[in-house]
Amino acid sequence: MFPLDRPRRLRRTPALRRLVAETSVEPRHLVLPMFVADGIDEPRAISSMPGVVQHTLDSLTKAATDAVSAGVGGLMLFGVPTPADKDADGSAASDPDGILNRGLRTLRDELGDSTVLMADTCLDEFTDHGHCGVLAADGSVDNDATLRRYVDMALAQADAGAHLLGTSGMMDGQVGAIREALDSSGRSGTGIIAYAAKYASAFYGPFREAVGSSLQGDRRTYQQDAANRRESWREVDLDLAEGADIVMVKPAMSYLDVLREVADRSSVPVAAYQISGEYAMITAAAERGWIDRDAAILESLTSIRRAGADIVLTYWAAEAARWLGNSRS
Ligand code: PBG
Repeated sequence: MFPLDRPRRLRRTPALRRLVAETSVEPRHLVLPMFVADGIDEPRAISSMPGVVQHTLDSLTKAATDAVSAGVGGLMLFGVPTPADKDADGSAASDPDGILNRGLRTLRDELGDSTVLMADTCLDEFTDHGHCGVLAADGSVDNDATLRRYVDMALAQADAGAHLLGTSGMMDGQVGAIREALDSSGRSGTGIIAYAAKYASAFYGPFREAVGSSLQGDRRTYQQDAANRRESWREVDLDLAEGADIVMVKPAMSYLDVLREVADRSSVPVAAYQISGEYAMITAAAERGWIDRDAAILESLTSIRRAGADIVLTYWAAEAARWLGNSRS
């Protein structure tokens, strides 16, 4: 007549709930993606990502230092060149004086080994056509010619002080090509955080504004189709075989099933990227008073951790690290 098993018993008080929580989010799990732009004197707001900015080198240094003192696990840096510095090959990406490499050098000088400094190893911010690689004569993205550009970019980023290179371009063989180039040039200590399962997603929309992307069209010939699950195992297996130190699933929230499977199969730590559109959705709904912002952020981060992410890239990393570090409840 009355239920014998009563799961509600363990939910009665905050202390009971805390005692039995299976998943936690700690500051060290969170990585803050940051944008550094060339040719600006003041930080520039990104309208579709309220609260996120394109930094100057000075504001980058300050925000990065604050994030590190809040306890974040690392920083992922993206460069935004001036429109005049973009070209078909994305040359500014491998130029030691290009904005991304200057940003990396500045942060490494300031922060040393006190945090984990990561770099976006991809061409889309630097190409005038906005694709993640260089184009063949027929306009398609040329995989193997792109690998040569990624190698140049990777060596420059390693020299600029990145601890980990974020291979986000979804070219076949990119992890192997970069690993080989690093190892054969005395840079074997630089690691690779491989965007292994990266899907072509509508939720990247605000990022295109964040990096001033020139892309017309889409990335469906190189990023994965949202319909596919097994394809992620193939991508992850390849990246592991090619030497990835960490594998990533991206986006996070629409792909939690994929994340779970990758976490179950991976022999290396697994990251997930809560991307720009995920940030924008929660921010916009909260601005309208439709959801409780802080609770929604924490729930989203907890669900990504529960699905198996050891590391979560999120634009809320510094803010969330601050609350999490302060709260003991
Ligand atoms: C490629 C890259 C992208 C993001 C991270 N690295 C853009 C894309 O693949 O279109 C998206 C991140 C986000 O949306 O927050 N350099």
